[in-house]
Amino acid sequence: MKQLYHIAFSIAVSAVLLLFYACSHKRDLKQTKSGEIERKIDSLLSIMTLEEKIGQMTLFTSDFNVTGPTIRENYKADIKAGKVGAVFNAFGAAYTRELQKMAVENTRLGIPLLLGYDVIHGFRTIFPIPLGEAASWDLASIENSARIAAVEATADGLHWTFAPMVDIARDPRWGRIAEGAGEDTYLGSVIAKAKVKGFQNGDLYKTNTLVACAKHFVAYGAALAGRDYNIVDMSERTLREIYLPPFKAAVEEGVGTIMTSFNEINGVPATGNRMILTDILKIEWGFDGFVVTDYTSINEMVPHGVVMDEKEAGKLAVNAGVDMDMQGAVFYNYLAESVEQGGDGTMSRIDDAVRRILRIKYLLGLFEDAYRYCDEQKEKELVLLHPDHIAFARVMARRSIVLLKNKGDLLPLDQNITTLAVVGPLADNKKEMIGPWSAAGDYTRCVSLLEGIKKQAHPNTRILFAKGCNIDDTHTYLIREAVAVARKADVVILAVGEAAWMSGEAASRSMIGLPGVQQELVKRIYETGKPVIVVLMNGRPLAIPWIAEHIPAILETWFLGTTGGDAISDVIFGKYNPSGKLPVTFPRNEGQIPIFYNAKNTGRPISDNKYTSKYLDVPNTPLYPFGYGLSYTTFEYSNIILNKNEISYKDTLKAMVEVTNTGPEKGEEVVQMYIRDLAGSVTRPLKELKGFQKIKLEPGVTTRVTFTITSGDLKYYDINMEYKVEPGDFVLFIGTNSIETREAYFTLIE
Ligand code: NOJ
Repeated sequence: MKQLYHIAFSIAVSAVLLLFYACSHKRDLKQTKSGEIERKIDSLLSIMTLEEKIGQMTLFTSDFNVTGPTIRENYKADIKAGKVGAVFNAFGAAYTRELQKMAVENTRLGIPLLLGYDVIHGFRTIFPIPLGEAASWDLASIENSARIAAVEATADGLHWTFAPMVDIARDPRWGRIAEGAGEDTYLGSVIAKAKVKGFQNGDLYKTNTLVACAKHFVAYGAALAGRDYNIVDMSERTLREIYLPPFKAAVEEGVGTIMTSFNEINGVPATGNRMILTDILKIEWGFDGFVVTDYTSINEMVPHGVVMDEKEAGKLAVNAGVDMDMQGAVFYNYLAESVEQGGDGTMSRIDDAVRRILRIKYLLGLFEDAYRYCDEQKEKELVLLHPDHIAFARVMARRSIVLLKNKGDLLPLDQNITTLAVVGPLADNKKEMIGPWSAAGDYTRCVSLLEGIKKQAHPNTRILFAKGCNIDDTHTYLIREAVAVARKADVVILAVGEAAWMSGEAASRSMIGLPGVQQELVKRIYETGKPVIVVLMNGRPLAIPWIAEHIPAILETWFLGTTGGDAISDVIFGKYNPSGKLPVTFPRNEGQIPIFYNAKNTGRPISDNKYTSKYLDVPNTPLYPFGYGLSYTTFEYSNIILNKNEISYKDTLKAMVEVTNTGPEKGEEVVQMYIRDLAGSVTRPLKELKGFQKIKLEPGVTTRVTFTITSGDLKYYDINMEYKVEPGDFVLFIGTNSIETREAYFTLIE
């Protein structure tokens, strides 16, 4: 017995030791800074020349694909000369090995390269655009899609992704709204964490994890008039309450890098903004990773007009807190000169920047083995559309679809329809379905909507197709054929929307309706009198009031990626009951922009009185509100029950609601909880999302959903810009979207 006990004890001890060993070997910024790594950096720094240090701070693009002017073509010679420490837009196990070899074998210190790429929504297997994924409100799936992207990208030699984009975007004219999680700070923050977790997986040392980069720091999404790269002028309160938190969440999750934004903030370009990069990010938040600029954004401080030349720009950037220069070659060309001419503290700033960059390289294990990510065998196994990845892409894609309208339960369709017309410029299209920023994705591998429908419709169903028009046609010649096809069908599926290039970078639109003559196409198909299902594909909210009023069934499908056509067909034929909710408000027209749910009341909230805050020609309400989305079943909410009506700072409040599936199908619902602070030392939004739960219910079943609220959830920046909680009265809302909610009241006492 004693012996048995002894054996069990030693097994337990070894298990604990093993666990300790495993944990202590996890490498990421969330762990305490490793003394061993810092010592290694110290000794390396002590033997590095100024040129070698500046080399580490330099990032150049390769010749694969570029997103701006390529002003450095000699990057290979630069690698061999130790003048570049990181390269982007190069991948493939063999090619990255070749580049790595140049750095390791030719340079004096053999410091390995860091290899980055824009892996935004998948690498080879392409997932929905980030705005689409956000519509799933499914954090575990979002994390998993980032995980798969990391597995594929690292198998192709990459270490670093320029994602997630965590810019809050309240203006759908801005094309980059497609790349983020939409308009809400809370949703944006939890998604930021999920993505960092997915990419980095808490351990940068593993060869299947990517260093993440939260971008663009900061307020890039607030570009004036929704015009990309435009200026930003905003209060510190809005900056801190709305735009900064998703970055802070990413830092808390251990994000390895942060990218500066192109825009100025209150007169100071982000790339030369010490308050943002050093005071807030590095000092206040304790960020230990490194700051990379966006593409040539140091150089752009000259046209911004805060410096006369690039040399001055470089000095401003490094002293503001920039650690690595993307593509601008400003550090490369001028930083040594600036130091020689006596840079006030510039040298110590350079040492700090290099330390941060080397820290990431150590965490990745590149100093132990520079080629650990260049594994041709693994590349073969993993990068070519692995069946498990494709299967999950379909799961992610269908969870991202939002059912906007379903009059008369037109959807789901009966599989045995005699004749089905699939019409529209996006109906038989793969190229657009992959969306903007499609990394190494091959659009020819996408499943088009027409292909998806053909696979799932009954073999006896006749499927007719007509394009009707191209996405941005200005003529209507093709419409007649589409109308003829629609007339022959029992039901028409009409796929309309944007081209992939119409969202993403440098893709602002002043009018956000359907491009070209597509609106005309929709009208003419509607006039046939056939039941019409509109399938929207787009990278931003669209202003489509006519469609919303007339067309009986509407599906918002964003750009769903590789498996798009299968996922949409799953929803159309009822294999999957849609559960997505809008992460962003859909306006009725462009004049309402910016329109977002967490607006303030004003002193004259809208009423029948003329002299209140409203338009003469359009209601204040959106076309579709934030958080909105239907299902093939229906959900009913009970009244909210609070465990207390008065709480102190130390108490927790529990809010409970019962949700019943009152419809015919099993389905999922995103139960949303919002709070309003009725009176503060400064005005507060009408509603702020503070929590949500995605639940699954069988028909006829009721479940109780409970939210826990602490006084920490009620904090904000008060009149003195102190982040704290104020006593007073609050309204708590729970509901199916940001407008249809039930409410309860509570008081916070000191
Ligand atoms: C410019 C974009 O703004 C940024 O998001 C991207 O990561 C870089 N180009 C690199 O491609």
